[in-house]
Amino acid sequence: MSAATPDPDQPWARLAPDYEQARAKEDSLDRLVEWPAQRELLGDVTGRSVLDVGCGNGGKLAELVRDGAGPSVGVDISGNFLTARPSGLQLVQGDLSELDSIRELSGRRFDRVLFLQSFGYAFDPVRTLEAARAMLADDGFIVLTRTQPIRYAIERAEQNGTSLGEEYFSSATFSYKSGWNDRITLTKRPYTISDLINVFSAAGLWIETAIEPQLPEDAGRRYPHKQAWMNKYLGILIFKLRPRPEHHDERTRL
Ligand SMILES: C[S@@+](CC[C@H](N)C(=O)[O-])C[C@H]1O[C@@H](n2cnc3c(N)ncnc32)[C@H](O)[C@@H]1O
Repeated sequence: MSAATPDPDQPWARLAPDYEQARAKEDSLDRLVEWPAQRELLGDVTGRSVLDVGCGNGGKLAELVRDGAGPSVGVDISGNFLTARPSGLQLVQGDLSELDSIRELSGRRFDRVLFLQSFGYAFDPVRTLEAARAMLADDGFIVLTRTQPIRYAIERAEQNGTSLGEEYFSSATFSYKSGWNDRITLTKRPYTISDLINVFSAAGLWIETAIEPQLPEDAGRRYPHKQAWMNKYLGILIFKLRPRPEHHDERTRL
């Protein structure tokens, strides 16, 4: 384990296997919508080194390495990793809030850094993104995905009998039962879309592309319950982020 030792009460220590089981289902939105869109934004990874932050069991990164990516590292707090790994793939138990203290990442540079549904767990989001930016190779970029904040606002408005706007703009931390295991409660700080954009900007990044992937039509027909979910909750946002050159210059001058 690198950096901070994970708290056994950390919900992901217990939730990780349930998440992977749900993700593997043939009608999972990760499989139908998110991973295909994430891969498209990543483009050709041949020979590219990839850092996957909050990599889960490392399955997505293993696929990239099998498809020709260069030496790659996945970091996750759960330590619930694949045992069968292609060579060139290293999986490290560590905390994304302490990226700069993870020994295995020291002095490393990556062509791609991924935060796939993991960025929300950063204690200090700007610091985590700055650490990731500092690990980017020349011409490298970050792919970051987050749940549409409107989804959580809709759920809370329904639960609390309030309005979408009241919940979307609320700053109170909220807890909810995980959809992957209802015995585990996750706690989140609310965020708006402008909060996200401002965090990227404060970390010296600019948004090259933002997408809101949707179910392909045939998948929507095959899995109408998933289409209904997407129609109600919208899905996820995916950002391709690059370092702002002037920000880099400012920091090297210091
Ligand atoms: C929703 S899952 C996403 C997993 C994977 N990136 C994917 O796209 O399938 C969130 C992941 O973030 C990890 N995570 C949560 N808090 C973390 C932390 N503080 N440091 C590193 N990983 C963390 C969890 O263990 C979990 O694997």
